[in-house]
Amino acid sequence: MPLSPKNLKTITEQFPVNDQCFYLNHAAVAPWPRCTSDAVQKFAEENCQTGAQGYLTWLKKEQDLRTKLAKLVGSKNQDCVALVKNTSEALSFVAYGLDWQAGDIILISDDEFPSNRIVWESLAQKHGVIVKQVHISVQDPETEILAAINASIDKPKLISVSAVQYASGIKLDLAKLGNACKENKVLFCVDAIQAVGAMEFKCDEWNIDFAMADGHKWMLGPEGLGFFFVKQQHIKNLNLYQYGWHMIEGAGDFSIKNWQPADNARRFECGSPNMLAGYALEASTDLLLNVGLDNVADTIEYNHSFLVDQLQLLGAEILSPLESKVRAGIVTFRFSGVDSAWLYQQLMSNDVVCANRGGGVRFSPHFHTTKACMEGAIIVLSKILHSRL
Ligand SMILES: Cc1ncc(COP(=O)(O)O)c(C=O)c1O
Repeated sequence: MPLSPKNLKTITEQFPVNDQCFYLNHAAVAPWPRCTSDAVQKFAEENCQTGAQGYLTWLKKEQDLRTKLAKLVGSKNQDCVALVKNTSEALSFVAYGLDWQAGDIILISDDEFPSNRIVWESLAQKHGVIVKQVHISVQDPETEILAAINASIDKPKLISVSAVQYASGIKLDLAKLGNACKENKVLFCVDAIQAVGAMEFKCDEWNIDFAMADGHKWMLGPEGLGFFFVKQQHIKNLNLYQYGWHMIEGAGDFSIKNWQPADNARRFECGSPNMLAGYALEASTDLLLNVGLDNVADTIEYNHSFLVDQLQLLGAEILSPLESKVRAGIVTFRFSGVDSAWLYQQLMSNDVVCANRGGGVRFSPHFHTTKACMEGAIIVLSKILHSRL
């Protein structure tokens, strides 16, 4: 169900981007809402006028951000959430924080974004672990992963999958996978960047051990600040390899000689936080929570269906799943006899902001994306296709 007209008006004001271009690229980098831009401008002016005189207020904002991120990822405990640079950094905290033995198996899918493959492959080179890839099919995405988790021999020590595949847009049933991992004592690591901010996410309920995402996609924030969720029981077990004043118990008391790493996930934050990005991400997450993640997800689903219908009318082959249970905000498509790389270039030069991924063109509307934006993009697409004839 799309948002009601009253909400829509406020939302339209929050997203002037929809008056400038046809923005269908949230799976890459999202535009900022007005409130995020305002927060950054206000913070910039404050820095210019009074420097860090209001540092205590900044710390309060940082706390607010942690609280909101914990809500966004479905964790009751904000002590489980660290602020990190990006998804890759947090994946590295897990990969290099766990103890490995030669022969340990790590399971990923065969179409992961490079960040969720390279870090595990680096372990294979260093520690002799085995990285196995399984196929995630549109029809039955979890089957091969579940088979590997339930196997009696060669059980993985850890699986690391994207909640939503970046190219195809296949959404995994994380509750099902989390359950199976728990039962089989397999660690469950989720690259959540294509999901958090676009749908309800439930780290606690889904038995997720580790989850991470940068803020610049569905969370509508800037690049370079994201979250790292670590289940409470693992916080003290991950080996640390970054150290500094900020990650110790009692941070801020520079006289402490016998320091200990903080008891909570702040131990993964070695130095000064990125306050500027924090102000931005706090504003973006606040907006998302106010709209409500159920509303966000419903509206994205509506937008997804709208685009699929329109694309199919133009004769597109849809490469993303169509079934509600399996689909997310990503619609990847191609046309027979049309080079997708060329089509992508043509769209981009006609103000349709999209991506070239997974063997096709990828559209990724968010909840604020207007019908006019989607219709406009479809008209542009149709003109490009006709111009070839
Ligand atoms: C699934 C997935 N993981 C990670 C990233 C980005 O990683 P990072 O936040 O480290 O830049 C992307 C970006 O496209 C992605 O799609």
